[in-house]
Amino acid sequence: MSVHTEIKKVTTHALQKMKLTGEKISMITAYDFSFARIFDGAGIDVILVGDSASNVMAGHETTLPITLDQMIYHASSVVRAVDRALVIVDIPFGSYQSNSKEALASAIRIMKETGAHAVKMEGGEEILESVKRILAAGVPVMGHLGLTPQSIYKFGTYTVRAREEAEAETLKKDARLLQEAGCFGLVLEKIPAQLGKEVSENLNIPTIGIGAGKYCDGQVLVMHDLLGINTTFNPRFLRRYLDLYQQTTEAVQHYIRDVKSRDFPGEHEQY
Ligand code: KIV
Repeated sequence: MSVHTEIKKVTTHALQKMKLTGEKISMITAYDFSFARIFDGAGIDVILVGDSASNVMAGHETTLPITLDQMIYHASSVVRAVDRALVIVDIPFGSYQSNSKEALASAIRIMKETGAHAVKMEGGEEILESVKRILAAGVPVMGHLGLTPQSIYKFGTYTVRAREEAEAETLKKDARLLQEAGCFGLVLEKIPAQLGKEVSENLNIPTIGIGAGKYCDGQVLVMHDLLGINTTFNPRFLRRYLDLYQQTTEAVQHYIRDVKSRDFPGEHEQY
């Protein structure tokens, strides 16, 4: 059964249209060829090569250590797998915060060396000049507000953002500025559902929520969380669709038993 719109290739315009028609946008992270192939074949609308690769692929505590070269490696593997989904790549920490020239150079490297379709950047007014410069070069930009993990040492915790009026007002203003600058979409991470609703209703561009409630125009999850590969991360917003940690453990234990007992390889599994 097909669960997605019959579009041949998902574009930023297609996402805009989905917002207008009320069709929710599905987005998942991927970092390698094989999983990206499965997700694209399953009909996902958007694949995000997130800098969460720093956590789930490299084992770092935060997203800060991952480099532009490493993001380009992950993104090019993903792009080679994808026929239909829109592929968005996070510009990593340290490759756009210094100035807009550096930001543009990083975005250009991502687009040129990976074949991805768009970039994502964390922040509001403070990165606006860079966002505008990248957009002026013809590169689509997705914004990211709320909990922005690249600023984790400024926040100090991963708790829900913008519960207070002042922070919520700043977020709403930043969302408007990003839309006016020309961003094609906006990730809202870990904010109250009512704020997610208000922002989504007041913007013309689609919002994609992660822990931002059901009123966002789409949802994104990190693949390791959704598939149950990562069992130690249990926020309220996460719905697990598989227990791949347990299933993989059992499969590998089965394999170990078969090797030890000389059951594998059998007669028909050798030349
Ligand atoms: O890096 C990432 O995976 C992300 C999502 C959590 C939105 O930015």
